[in-house]
Amino acid sequence: MKESLKNLADIFYMKILTPSTPINIQWVNKIFRDIGIRDESIEKIAELNAPLSREVWYYSFIKAEEEGKLDVYLTRIAEVTGFEENEKIREYLQTLNLYYKDGVFRRRVFKMVVLVSGRGTNLQAIIDAIKERKIDGKIVAVISNRKKAYALERAKREGIPIYYLPARKNETREDYDRRLNEIIEPLNPDLIVLAGFLRILSPWFVNKYRNKIINIHPALLPSFAGLYGEHVHKAVLEYGCKVSGCTVHFVDDKVDHGPIIIQKCVEVKDDDTVESLAARVLEREHESLVEAIQLLSQGKIKIEGRKVIRL
Ligand code: GRF
Repeated sequence: MKESLKNLADIFYMKILTPSTPINIQWVNKIFRDIGIRDESIEKIAELNAPLSREVWYYSFIKAEEEGKLDVYLTRIAEVTGFEENEKIREYLQTLNLYYKDGVFRRRVFKMVVLVSGRGTNLQAIIDAIKERKIDGKIVAVISNRKKAYALERAKREGIPIYYLPARKNETREDYDRRLNEIIEPLNPDLIVLAGFLRILSPWFVNKYRNKIINIHPALLPSFAGLYGEHVHKAVLEYGCKVSGCTVHFVDDKVDHGPIIIQKCVEVKDDDTVESLAARVLEREHESLVEAIQLLSQGKIKIEGRKVIRL
């Protein structure tokens, strides 16, 4: 059970132990039905009129969370028990992507914009993780500077809004980024993910979205910075490295440079080709990107200088 979910359940459990609250297993059963959660275990325990033990209480929280109804469930509980937020509780709520306002718990949607230029396997990894509920968030736009990027097809298939934004002749980086921002700003994303976006962002853009842009690089930074695609793997092989890997990092105003969130290694084998190495690294990329987004969306990351501390 997620620690913050358990802590939150405990806070309310202490409140329901007081004789003045009418919360018992029948109450939970009724609320579950009201809010559209059908659960046989809760129904059975209610039929037996069994006491509302801590374990059953925890279970109801897990169930509500799994059903995506924790916000509604908490609101109903708080109507009966009252609720006072403090710093600690706000942290638990944030981890669960919830917030409390005017007597109501709400689900905070973690909004992402994904920038792409190519085939979009990393984009697909994010899409899949959202579907599998590994990431609690939403991709609100996929933007490509290349018309033929297969990533756009992937997004379209999922009903995600897509934008094709080609660079104009003689346009500066900043001019392009200002046009990019015209799409992004109204969407107010929590995170901008560079998933194979083959453009360098201007300092103007990077500063505007400081600590809100992440990039995935197919090598262990700071080695092999500034290279992309197969050039990276070719350079790794030519150098004779015995390990390679990938890096998910925040974007700052130097290329492939910002604070590192996650790195994963792969072995470089003696008979590796650019393709075989790239394929092995790519698997790690997908995992790393998903893990980084999980951490960020749950507010579990603190940046101290160059260091990213995982909370
Ligand atoms: C990945 O190798 C990523 O590390 C790099 O660009 C590639 C994008 O691949 N930045 P895909 O388009 O996500 O399949």
